[in-house]
Amino acid sequence: MEIFHISAECYPVAKVGGLADVVGALPKYQNKAGHKVRVVIPCYDTKFRKENVFENVYSGNVLIGNFNYSFNVLKETTDKLGFELYLIDIPELFERKDVYGYTDDIERFLSFQIATLDWVLSRNKIPDVINCHDHHTGLIPFMMLYANKYQKLKETPSIITIHNGLYQGQFGFDKMNYLPEFDRSHTSILEWDNCINSLAVGIKCAWAVTTVSPNYLNEINYSANGLESLFNSVRYKSRGILNGIDIEVWNPKTDEMLAKNYSIKDLVKGKQANKEKLCSQFNLDPSKPLFSFIGRLFDEKGGDLLPKASEIALTDNKEAINILILGSGNPNIEKELTHLQSVYNGNFNVFIGYNEELAHLIYAGADFILMPSRVEPCGLNQMYSLRYGTIPIVRRTGGLKDTVIDFGDDGNGICHDQASVEDICYSIQRAVNLYKDKTHLNKIRKIGMSTDHSWERVCQEYLDVYNLIINKI
Ligand code: GLC
Repeated sequence: MEIFHISAECYPVAKVGGLADVVGALPKYQNKAGHKVRVVIPCYDTKFRKENVFENVYSGNVLIGNFNYSFNVLKETTDKLGFELYLIDIPELFERKDVYGYTDDIERFLSFQIATLDWVLSRNKIPDVINCHDHHTGLIPFMMLYANKYQKLKETPSIITIHNGLYQGQFGFDKMNYLPEFDRSHTSILEWDNCINSLAVGIKCAWAVTTVSPNYLNEINYSANGLESLFNSVRYKSRGILNGIDIEVWNPKTDEMLAKNYSIKDLVKGKQANKEKLCSQFNLDPSKPLFSFIGRLFDEKGGDLLPKASEIALTDNKEAINILILGSGNPNIEKELTHLQSVYNGNFNVFIGYNEELAHLIYAGADFILMPSRVEPCGLNQMYSLRYGTIPIVRRTGGLKDTVIDFGDDGNGICHDQASVEDICYSIQRAVNLYKDKTHLNKIRKIGMSTDHSWERVCQEYLDVYNLIINKI
C-alpha cells in the first residue's frame, strides 16, 4: 500500500510536541511492515535541513489570494528515517526558526496543503491513502473531494488523525478565496461557528477519523472546544488508536543520551547512575525522591498548577524531596518556577526550554514523572517513563487513563482524578511513602518496564482502518 502522511511536524526534522514523535515513528513501522510510506512536512529552517542532503523532485507555484509563492519539493536522499521524507520548501513562508506562532500561519499552512496536493497530483501514481494529522492538514480532505483541480484525487481515501482537538485552525470567510476553485454548492462544509474551521472540515470530509487514544475519543463527545456535536455525528467513522512509542529511540539499554544504560535486570543501579548525573547537573540530592515534569508549560498540561503544587509539596516534606522541571510556555508560569528555584535552591530546579538529551536523562534518572494534564489526547511521556522504569503520576484523562493504572489496583503508576494542586500534592505524598518501600517501588517500576507500547502492535490498527476505507470504494 502507498501511504502518505501529511503533517506540520516530524521528529527529528521539526518537533514542537508529541505530534512529531508519532509522525517520526508510525511511518517507519508501516514501512517495515512492507508498505511504501512517504511523510510530507513544510521545510523549516532547522538543523536537520542544513545537515542532510536533499534533491529537488518537483517545482511549482501556489496562488493564495493575490500572493504567488513558488515552491520546491525536496526529498531526503538516503531515506535515513526509515521512510521517504519530503519537505515542501516555500522559503517566504517557512524559512523561519519556529514551526508555529506567526501571524500568517493560516496562509503558511494553507499554502503547504495546496503545494502538497499539487505535487501528489503531478506524480504518475495516485496514493492508496492519505493520512492527515491535526488541523494544519484539515483542508486536504475537502480539497481532494471538491476542488476542481484535484478531481483525480476524489476517489483517494483520506483519514485525519487528531492529536489535539483544542487547536482548530479557524479563519474568516474573507479568506475563502485562498482556497483553489471548488464547487461552491459545498461551501457550507467549510463552516463551523461562522468561521472556516480547518479541523472541523477535515473531520467532516475525511473518510475516517482517528484519535490518538480510545478514551480521548470518548471524551471529545462531551468536551472538544466546541466540536462535541460534530464528533458525535461522525462516531460511525471514528476510531481511537492508542499511540505507540519508538522503542528503538526510547530504549534504556541502548540510549546514547544516558549516563549509564540499563535494563529491567539492573534497573536500580542504572537509574541511580543517571540520577546522580542529573542531580549533580542541577544541584539536587540523589538520595531524595526526584519528581519531574517534562513538557509545555500551559494550562492544558496542568502547567499552571506546578508552581503552587511544588511549593506545597516542598514545604510539607521539609526538604525530603527534589523537583526538576523541563519545559517552556506561558511566561507567567516560567517566572513563578524560576522564582521557586531561588527560594528552594538545592531542592528545586527548572530548565526553561526544551532539550531532547536532557529529556532522555530525566526519564532515566527521575523517580516520578508528573502529568497533571487537563487535556491529554494520548500523552507519550508516561509511556517513555514506564519504559525507563520511572513511575508516572497522572491525572485520569485521555490517553493517560488508557495507559496508567494506579498501583493501588496493582497497576504501573499513581493516578488522581482532578487537575488540582490538592490532588497533585496528595499523589506526591503517596509517592514519597512508596519510595520508602523499595521492594514495592521496584515491583511497580518493573511492571512499567515490561509493558509493550511498541508501534509494531499499533501499526496494524492503522492498517485496519486504511483497509476498511479502501475497500469501501
Ligand atoms: C499531542 C497531544 C498528546 C499526544 C501527541 C501525539 O501533543 O497533546 O497528548 O500524545 O499529540 O499524538
